[in-house]
Amino acid sequence: MITLETLNLEIDGPKATIYLNRPDKKNAMNPQMHRDMHEVLDAIEAAGDVSAVVVTGNGDSFSAGMDLEECFLQPFDNPMEFYRTNLVALDWFKRLKAFPAVTVAKVNGFAFGGGVLVTGLCDLAVASEDATFGLSEINFGIFPAGGATWATAHNLPRKQALYYILTGDTFTGAQAEQFGLVNKTVPADQLDEATDRIVRKLVRKNPTTLRLAKEVYEHNRTTALPEAIDYDQAKLWELSRLTGNEWINVALKQFEKRAYQPGLSTYSRSGAAS
Ligand code: COA
Repeated sequence: MITLETLNLEIDGPKATIYLNRPDKKNAMNPQMHRDMHEVLDAIEAAGDVSAVVVTGNGDSFSAGMDLEECFLQPFDNPMEFYRTNLVALDWFKRLKAFPAVTVAKVNGFAFGGGVLVTGLCDLAVASEDATFGLSEINFGIFPAGGATWATAHNLPRKQALYYILTGDTFTGAQAEQFGLVNKTVPADQLDEATDRIVRKLVRKNPTTLRLAKEVYEHNRTTALPEAIDYDQAKLWELSRLTGNEWINVALKQFEKRAYQPGLSTYSRSGAAS
């Protein structure tokens, strides 16, 4: 366990968990947390073999979003300080979205503004049924920024996105699941197990394949079919080369022996090269 001022990081083989750790402030993200976040992302990348990263909050909140006092109110009169403070945050938001490992938000309680943003930027998300989400920005006079409108537009249907952006009303974990912001909601006491179940599936896959699957998805969702096909074919050759053709030499050889049914389960990676 790595303990920083505002975050804890646990790395357990291919799984890492980042705990936002300002429970007294509902895990509001202050400038120190933004700096700490770069440090834990560096540590996860340096570990080299992490393929799934869970982001969650200590206490009764996922995150109450940006620390309104430390990030906005206090530095506002000094433009360069304001710019620099928030750039650290904006940089890790972009970094999280493009992170090579699969990212999973485990949303336990309040998720406002930046909390919705982080949930939306993660590749997958699980929430407790009683989680409370909200785009509260309109309630203090701005619109969701720093990627929060982007994350809302990319995760909620248009009418729902605009409704919550414009009213600042809250929505529950169950509604978040209905909108598609989270994959699944469960009673709070089942949140850990439900998240672990997904992570256990992920870490059995080839990590390079997971990374390239994310890249192909992100690229191809905004491109025309001919370009998408060219891109995925190029990435398939990249994958083959980077993994020593594991899909042919291990996965499909096991299928040839009828060792598993790919429609229902995954091949065994023990003994695989990468
Ligand atoms: N920025 C700074 N401080 C925050 C914060 C934020 N985003 N969210 C919570 N806090 C602080 C509270 O001000 C309070 O501080 P204090 O103990 O010094 O008074 C402490 O965290 C606990 O919060 P409190 O409001 O007492 O808890 P609650 O359970 O009654 O309410 C919330 C929780 C999340 C509903 C409420 O704190 C809130 O509305 N927070 C702001 C949410 C928001 O708009 N976020 C910005 C998104 S960009």
